[in-house]
Amino acid sequence: MKATAKAHTNIALIKYWGKRNESIILPTNSSLSLTLDGFYTTTSVHFSEEYTQDKFILNERVVEGEQHRRVSGFLDLIRQQAGKSLYATVDSTNEVPTAAGFASSASGFAALAAAGTKAIGLDMSDRELSALTRQGSGSACRSIYGGFAEWEMGAEEDGSDSYAVPIAPAEHWDLRVAAVVLSSTAKKVSSRAGMKRTVETSPFYQGWLNSIPTDMSQIKEGIKERDFQKVGEVAEANCLKMHATTLGANPPFTYWHDTTMTVMQMVRDLREKGIPAYFTIDAGPNVKVLYLPENEEVIEKTLRNIPGVADIRLSRPGQGVTYL
Ligand code: ADP
Ligand code: DP6
Ligand code: CO
Repeated sequence: MKATAKAHTNIALIKYWGKRNESIILPTNSSLSLTLDGFYTTTSVHFSEEYTQDKFILNERVVEGEQHRRVSGFLDLIRQQAGKSLYATVDSTNEVPTAAGFASSASGFAALAAAGTKAIGLDMSDRELSALTRQGSGSACRSIYGGFAEWEMGAEEDGSDSYAVPIAPAEHWDLRVAAVVLSSTAKKVSSRAGMKRTVETSPFYQGWLNSIPTDMSQIKEGIKERDFQKVGEVAEANCLKMHATTLGANPPFTYWHDTTMTVMQMVRDLREKGIPAYFTIDAGPNVKVLYLPENEEVIEKTLRNIPGVADIRLSRPGQGVTYL
């Protein structure tokens, strides 16, 4: 009863930002992402009658507290679906900074869901696996697939129609992403807490929601046509709208650091010089820059020279979950 799975993170081009149901994680808006080959999690799950409790090891350290509770709560869902009550040891390695805005919860819960269901003997379709994964971390439901994926928010109260679907495979378009690493330390406000506060208190939240349908249909057209300018413009604007909602929250907050804005300005400067590049930012200070393969050299060099930039990590479109 042991299995190992690997899942990549994804970068949201249309952000998931808000829940209508916190316990089974139903979102207030649909979202769309690109899976990245450069960041991933490998997780082994072992269920055994010999265990007397769930154990969670992350990057070779035993983890207790909130992170353990989240994993154990997710294992309960797997046990429930399988009709079994065995405890498990979860051994996970993040090839991505944890809780820093690089979507470790996406690769982490996608790998956990895949390994956990396989280890306990459940045979699931991608759609079923995505709906289950959603309940670990919303963004993770998109990491089941490679390439571009859309999380359809669904309408049912039981979550049965809220899962991700593939939009285009990784091979469809070699869209590149440079992750500009400013800080790899854990953020002060988790994604979960940040979106909750925003939904409950930000007067800008309704404006955010109203803008989603147009952004979504535009970006899907852009992806289909491999129209870099269209995809870049929509993704950048969508990111700015999401981050704007946090300034209206009570108490107000922002995920940005000063260098976050320096990098954003540098991307705009590149465009003025005729080099197409666009940015997007998840819940953290680190900027992801979208670019095309022919501009990789100039993009990397420009970003590396910005003071305060710790590292640049280049990604191509990545694959969906795999079993090792
Ligand atoms: P991020 O930007 O990294 O996704 P979040 O605040 O959304 O930040 O989520 C971070 C949380 O995700 C961690 O505190 C932990 O609870 C969970 N997490 C991260 N990596 C893993 C993993 N490999 N396995 C299980 N849970 C993980
Ligand atoms: C800004 O999926 O990390 O990265 O569902 O509470 O685990 P939980 O939150 P999470 O939120 C991600 C927010 C985002 C946008 C996105 O990835 O779509
Ligand atoms: Co996350």
